[in-house]
Amino acid sequence: MSLRDKCSIIEFKDLGDERGKLVVVEGGQSIPFDIKRVFYIYGSDSTVVRGQHANRESEFMLINVAGKSKVRITDSKEEIIVELNRPMMGVYIPKMIWKDMYDFSADSVLLVLASTHYDGSEYIRDYEEYKREME
Ligand code: TYD
Repeated sequence: MSLRDKCSIIEFKDLGDERGKLVVVEGGQSIPFDIKRVFYIYGSDSTVVRGQHANRESEFMLINVAGKSKVRITDSKEEIIVELNRPMMGVYIPKMIWKDMYDFSADSVLLVLASTHYDGSEYIRDYEEYKREME
């Protein structure tokens, strides 16, 4: 399966009426895991690169609920870049995929839904080590 197929871009239901918009994300339904954790990143700017890790156990869904950012995703062989720029789109990141988030707009709020509770020991933060494990 290609990296693009593994890291699917998902369009969520955007329920709108005259009062405004409402986007629904349901764990196990619109995304392929149950949500155990939610965090969001804001106050980063276009000079910052975040992420720079792979996770042995966690799956993620990244959604820019405001503003925009880019995510560079690699499995050490292929690379894709996704621009997150609409609150109703997200990118799914499975286990053992390396990601860098960058090019944050000043108003960027990057929402991350995760399949696990936080455990710093499941992170691979050394790209050379990641590459070795992916060989
Ligand atoms: P970090 O993993 O560097 O963020 P990024 O997703 O941009 O790579 O996390 C920043 C700090 O926050 C680090 O000290 C770990 C801590 N943290 C938690 O305590 N819980 C969490 O769920 C996350 C994602 C991070």
